[in-house]
Amino acid sequence: MNRTNIVLVGFMGTGKTSVGKKLAASLGKTFVDMDEIIVEREGKPVSKIFEEDGESKFRALERALVQELAGKPNLVIATGGGIVLNPKNIEDFSATGFVVCLHAEPETILKRLKGDRTRPLLASTDKMERIINLLEARRPLYDSIPDRVDTTTLNRQAVVDHILTLYGASYHRES
Ligand code: S3P
Repeated sequence: MNRTNIVLVGFMGTGKTSVGKKLAASLGKTFVDMDEIIVEREGKPVSKIFEEDGESKFRALERALVQELAGKPNLVIATGGGIVLNPKNIEDFSATGFVVCLHAEPETILKRLKGDRTRPLLASTDKMERIINLLEARRPLYDSIPDRVDTTTLNRQAVVDHILTLYGASYHRES
């Protein structure tokens, strides 16, 4: 069994980055955040990439980065919320990692992202409506990931503990 990565998938505001950092620390794995790498390499924020180059360019950058990271061992990877839009991304990550989907209620997502200006897909006067519509459109994609944790009422440590339990169970399933 050589699936040494843990890949956190899920909608914006479900806790992928904050949980991922804590999870990586507790397992002695290296934490990487896909948005952060893309922003650093492109030299501009995600919102500028969307504005100047288009969403399709951002998705292409994401796709290339998935292929790169799936080829490395021992990472905890926080993905961007749209990673599920291309099923090949989940396929590639699943080959070398344990993929877990975080989810949360729309009200909680709104609360977590209230003052946020970095997410172009939520740049709307009615953020709640955007969240509900996007979540609904993507629901089948998130729901197709078998291992899932609802972060709505859990603190970071509790989410980490749930993930570790699922990760352990996945070892038994496959060994
Ligand atoms: C996106 C989620 C964002 C970022 C970009 C698009 C999406 O990442 O990749 O704004 O399509 O859901 P987070 O999930 O880390 O906010």
